[in-house]
Amino acid sequence: MKFKGIIPVLLVLVSPLLYADIVSYIATQQSYLENWFINENIIVLRNQSLIKCSLQCGILDECMSISYHKGSKECIGVTIGYIVQPTSLGYTSVGWSYYLVLDERCPDVTGYVFDKAFNSCYKVHLYDNTLRYDNYSQICESEGAKLMKIDSDEKQQHIVTFLDQFDISNWIYFQGTHLLSEPTWRYDDGSVISYFNWYSSQPDSTTSDTSEYLCMRKSDQYQWHDCWKSMKGAFICELQLI
Ligand SMILES: *[C@@H]1O[C@H](CO)[C@@H](O)[C@H](O)[C@H]1NC(C)=O
Ligand SMILES: *[C@@H]1O[C@H](CO)[C@@H](O)[C@H](O)[C@H]1NC(C)=O
Repeated sequence: MKFKGIIPVLLVLVSPLLYADIVSYIATQQSYLENWFINENIIVLRNQSLIKCSLQCGILDECMSISYHKGSKECIGVTIGYIVQPTSLGYTSVGWSYYLVLDERCPDVTGYVFDKAFNSCYKVHLYDNTLRYDNYSQICESEGAKLMKIDSDEKQQHIVTFLDQFDISNWIYFQGTHLLSEPTWRYDDGSVISYFNWYSSQPDSTTSDTSEYLCMRKSDQYQWHDCWKSMKGAFICELQLI
């Protein structure tokens, strides 16, 4: 089930001029979380209709999804977009449904979530042995996205919280590469990367290939390594909204 809620956001720019900007959000039901109550990372919202519930979530920066009880109209905001159901997340409770709240400009592809703080739609693709590094950005592009840019500590912390629900033991790739002949790390558009979150002892250039790529893994608290193309992994696609 999918429905759209139109949220008019009023912005006072230059008094006394009043500009109205329209942002619209889509709530998509996640059927694997039917009859499941979430009791972590929650924000208690007003008890109200499903549409109002998703609109209220839609205007809160920290709210990425909602848990809603049809009978009592109870409305709970959740600060993470859940894609899988970790057993620690809650418990069976009849009547509760779970919805991701997405900006309508996000890719219409299963697995994307939307975070308002970074104005970013993103999705994790799990490890697939048939894919190589070159496929990762191709796949993101086929979804209208790119490999994710992690360019601040806040974004790193945010994505770590999201990644923890999957329990990925493989390398996880995101955007960033450098030529062994040049120490500067760059995003895909050639701009220079200035935020890093290196694991101790990293980066540790080797001569196995002509380029290295940013990656991280859970066993190193998601701190970063310089990986080679031959090290296959999971990857994160992102559509940055403007
Ligand atoms: C919503 O309804 C439930 C159950 O009827 C009640 O326990 C809770 O306090 C209400 N929450 C709010 C924010 O009104
Ligand atoms: C992976 O990349 C190779 C080489 O570019 C291409 O032939 C293949 O179709 C890609 N696979 C997928 C699943 O995109």
